[in-house]
Amino acid sequence: MSEHPNPHPAPEADEPLPLEPTHDHPIAGHRYDGIREYDNPMPRWWVMIFWATIIWSPLYILGEYVFDWIPTYSERLAAQTERLEATRTAYTAANPTFSTEPAALAEYATNPDHAAEGAALYATTCVACHGDKGQGGIGPNLTDDYWIHGGTPEQVFAVITKGVLDKGMPPQEATLTDEQRGQLVAFIESIHGSNPPGSKEPQGDKAEG
Ligand code: HEC
Repeated sequence: MSEHPNPHPAPEADEPLPLEPTHDHPIAGHRYDGIREYDNPMPRWWVMIFWATIIWSPLYILGEYVFDWIPTYSERLAAQTERLEATRTAYTAANPTFSTEPAALAEYATNPDHAAEGAALYATTCVACHGDKGQGGIGPNLTDDYWIHGGTPEQVFAVITKGVLDKGMPPQEATLTDEQRGQLVAFIESIHGSNPPGSKEPQGDKAEG
């Protein structure tokens, strides 16, 4: 250690420091290993921010926890979640997705708009065998209370989808979408009990359609 003497030895306590000329005032008596401390105030902007945070903190605590001026994190989260739910509900209402789940299908089939769509499909795809008013022809009457395969929306949907090939009822699974078949169910529900002229005699079992 002593072979390499410090090239910059600390000045003795009372020795004047080799300072650059400056307007700053060293604090008397503050001298550590030759380092002196100056009495420089913090910049004004810094002090302002410092006081602002000190004044703000009790206001924040009172506002958040005592007077409820400021919503807490959980309150804001709950409000946002509510907004999200409302947006989702509105979106679902505006863009209903078709479901073949029985209750949803039954609900879907009661809508006159869906029945109107179904009527158009019926006119092109089904009339030839079931008659222009559903009165029946090659295929059974679709307006009476008698059903070979059951008259619930779910059952009617299944017949339209899978058909009854060996009896001459063509399946529509590949030619119509789920929703189009749902529209046909709605149409068939809408003509139930209409008793059109030339109705074919009942086939199958009596069931509420
Ligand atoms: C080529 C003739 C033909 C066409 C086209 C046809 N069907 Fe049929 N459909 C039949 C026949 C025949 C049956 C009776 C099947 C049986 O006896 O099991 C039937 C049965 C049905 C049944 C069941 C009736 C019951 O009593 O259970 C429904 C519902 C039905 N068709 C709807 C439709 C719809 C909707 C369309 C148009 C997408 C359609 N069909 C097109 C011939 C046809």
